[in-house]
Amino acid sequence: MLNKKLEVGLNKQINEELYSSYIYLSMCAYFESKNLSGFAKWMRMQSQEEYLHANKLYDYVIQKGGRVALTQIGTPKAEWKSVLEVFEDTLAHEKFISKCIDELVNLAHEEKDHATTNFLQWYVSEQVEEEANATKIVDDLKMVGENNYGIFMLDRELGQRKAEAADAE
Ligand code: FEO
Repeated sequence: MLNKKLEVGLNKQINEELYSSYIYLSMCAYFESKNLSGFAKWMRMQSQEEYLHANKLYDYVIQKGGRVALTQIGTPKAEWKSVLEVFEDTLAHEKFISKCIDELVNLAHEEKDHATTNFLQWYVSEQVEEEANATKIVDDLKMVGENNYGIFMLDRELGQRKAEAADAE
């Protein structure tokens, strides 16, 4: 059976991952409205990855004999001042998610739940990648500044993103 405190924590994380998916889908819609199809594609893939992150937790809770409890998902922000601001928000959000995962790992340690500690290691590694990806894009956008050609080139580059569905298996 799944430890009750961890069941609550894992369910909370399912909500956070679904909210992440919702935030990135909202960012995708913002980019679509600005005709920035490459950034939009990147965000749509990010949103789909977050949905997979939620489902991976969902499956684990069930596998451990716990009960999945879905709760309300908040309304995401819908407007930004610039492409840079969108990715600064992305980075800040990923840092927040890393903190959530760290707290869950701490709880799993306190409760001596080795299986959950082990399961969460995938998320620990994933967060390193998530923060690094967002940091790189923020750095690139700062370098480009207000230069339209630079934004155009970055839009094309990010539009090359490939799905990583197998990554979340
Ligand atoms: Fe599922 Fe971007 O953290």
